[in-house]
Amino acid sequence: MITTHPPQLGIATVGAKKNRGTYWITTFGCQMNKADSERMAGILENIGYSKAIDELSADLVLYNTCTIRDSAEQKVYSYLGRQAIRKHKSPHLKLIVSGCVAQQEGEALLRRVPEIDLVMGPQHVNRLETLLEQVDNGQQILATHENHILEDLTKARRDSKVSGWVNIIYGCNERCTYCVVPSVRGKEQSRAPEAIKQEISILALNGYKEVTLLGQNIDAYGRDLPGFTKEGRREHTLTDLLYYIHDVKGIERIRFATSHPRYFTKRLIDACHHLPKVCEHFHIPFQSGDNQVLREMSRGYTIEKYKKIIGEIKDKMPYASISADAIVGFPGETDQQYEKTLDLIREIEFDLVNTAAYSARPNTPAANWPNQVDEFVKISRLNELNNLVGIVAKKRNMRYLNQTEEILVEGINTKDSNQVMGRTRTNRLTFFQSCDSQGNEFKPGDLVSVKIKKIRSFSLTGSPSKTNQININ
Ligand code: SAH
Ligand code: SF4
Ligand code: F3S
Repeated sequence: MITTHPPQLGIATVGAKKNRGTYWITTFGCQMNKADSERMAGILENIGYSKAIDELSADLVLYNTCTIRDSAEQKVYSYLGRQAIRKHKSPHLKLIVSGCVAQQEGEALLRRVPEIDLVMGPQHVNRLETLLEQVDNGQQILATHENHILEDLTKARRDSKVSGWVNIIYGCNERCTYCVVPSVRGKEQSRAPEAIKQEISILALNGYKEVTLLGQNIDAYGRDLPGFTKEGRREHTLTDLLYYIHDVKGIERIRFATSHPRYFTKRLIDACHHLPKVCEHFHIPFQSGDNQVLREMSRGYTIEKYKKIIGEIKDKMPYASISADAIVGFPGETDQQYEKTLDLIREIEFDLVNTAAYSARPNTPAANWPNQVDEFVKISRLNELNNLVGIVAKKRNMRYLNQTEEILVEGINTKDSNQVMGRTRTNRLTFFQSCDSQGNEFKPGDLVSVKIKKIRSFSLTGSPSKTNQININ
């Protein structure tokens, strides 16, 4: 007698999720990419993939890439080379490239590494399931066309259990002459306030204490949404959104990044000052301390305007931390112009400055200018700048010494398991012993009063000054 067995696929999909094997995601680049990766991990787990123990054993490998500088772009090619060799031995391996290199290179990436199954731009993140179905049908897929980003209904698989990223606006409509982001992330698309609040409420229900609202130019939030107030103001702005989400119970800290000096408003400063959950930390890149360079970068503000914004913040919140990004070696930057960047850092006393040597990027105006700065000059400027940033940050950190700070515990200090690590409201990394005086261990999500005993340039060490944990709800 001949017996027939239902195919494996049928058994596995009835009632239970099909086990599709393991996945691995490596994320390059900014917080936006990290948030995208968490959503893609959520989608993969939802359709039956589980997290692999390492990259070389995974059945599906996804590289979520960054192209902000040439060095970031080149990194991914060496990773891909390794996986392409593996695919020849294990043809079932699915190889996916997403993110900004995927968008920039598109078809060229498939030609360069034909082993890739799927190349998908940042606007296609929430479509991963559909795109994978096409891959499963044996197709090689390119998804880089302009796409309206639909709400993602899958629960993101987040790395942190305490602090969640929440995209509020995708893309960027600016045209900074050095920057590749507008061409790879596309036009601004704001999410509806209701969808944002719902995501934050779900985070709170799952025990999250902190959210960071994300956008490349977060001050542009709402520009593309309909509606005006009676006074003729846009109905949806970042400031209004902060008021709207502030009452989500369980969320105790609200952050946002990245601010653009061109659009930063006094109303926003007032909201940050008034709303207790909004943390006293502002990330406002200035890029250069020289007006001529700023003009050539098409940044749309002067150093005077930038200083005015910082002055207004410091007037209201002297304790606030200010961080920024700066570029050295932009085409044509002279020694004197570069010195002005150093002067600004000394004057403002930034808590942190992310620094970079200018890197010529595809499809950006400045890349074709003839007055490129010598590599050696760029690197020596960058080294000097980094040194100054460390000195200034340490000086600025003096204000914490012997003060009691509220720290949100994120986890164990990976370098010393007797300590936990967390952040001040001003976003300074802080370490302290992992138990209180009665031997109770601090857990991720605890808010603890910590007396700061030691400062370094970019982190603090203290000891818990109270056994009671703070609860501001
Ligand atoms: N939207 C943010 C920045 C996004 S990119 C803003 O407007 O400030 C993050 C940082 O990378 C930038 O602030 C800039 O300092 C740096 N960066 C961008 N393009 C660069 C390039 N071509 N070379 C070097 N650094 C660059
Ligand atoms: Fe790039 Fe300028 Fe947009 Fe920032 S604002 S992402 S630097 S183009
Ligand atoms: Fe990089 Fe794209 Fe972010 S280029 S910095 S990952 S927006």
